[in-house]
Amino acid sequence: MASILFVCLGNICRSPLAEGVFRHLARERGLESRLHIDSAGTGAWHVGNPPDPRSTEVAARHGIRLESRARQVRSGDATRFDLILAMDRANLSDLTDLFDGRAEDPAGLLRLFRDYDPEVTGAADVPDPYYGGPDGFEVVHAMVERTCRSLLDEVARSLDQAGG
Ligand code: 4NP
Repeated sequence: MASILFVCLGNICRSPLAEGVFRHLARERGLESRLHIDSAGTGAWHVGNPPDPRSTEVAARHGIRLESRARQVRSGDATRFDLILAMDRANLSDLTDLFDGRAEDPAGLLRLFRDYDPEVTGAADVPDPYYGGPDGFEVVHAMVERTCRSLLDEVARSLDQAGG
């Protein structure tokens, strides 16, 4: 079992899309039952809300249904997840503050999502599409899908090493 939490600011645009895409890919590979997948936001404005309709629409165009409801990240998430992936560097900084002293291995637990993007080297953000047009959601979807594929390859390898 491995548990992964995707985190953005509002938990209505980027991280629900990452959660939905990653779950879809894990299901395709028969790994969904061995993974706990969730998403959360550093902010509380949208708690309880479904994803932004523009995220729901871009996911649907790619055959994926988003079913999450927004929640705010909490300090206890540091011990409940194996890997917490921040969508941008502001989210990463907020999480570092929130988890201060709570995570046994902060460097292993908390990473930038796009550290797993095969097309980037160095720190890269998933840009916040909230205030832009629908094109921004397609751009975000493309980087989320590419990154989730490579993340899943790595997670699958570590599940194999952990004993089938
Ligand atoms: P997200 O996008 O962090 O990708 O969910 C945002 C959603 C809402 C707001 C900002 C970003 N907001 O300011 O309400």
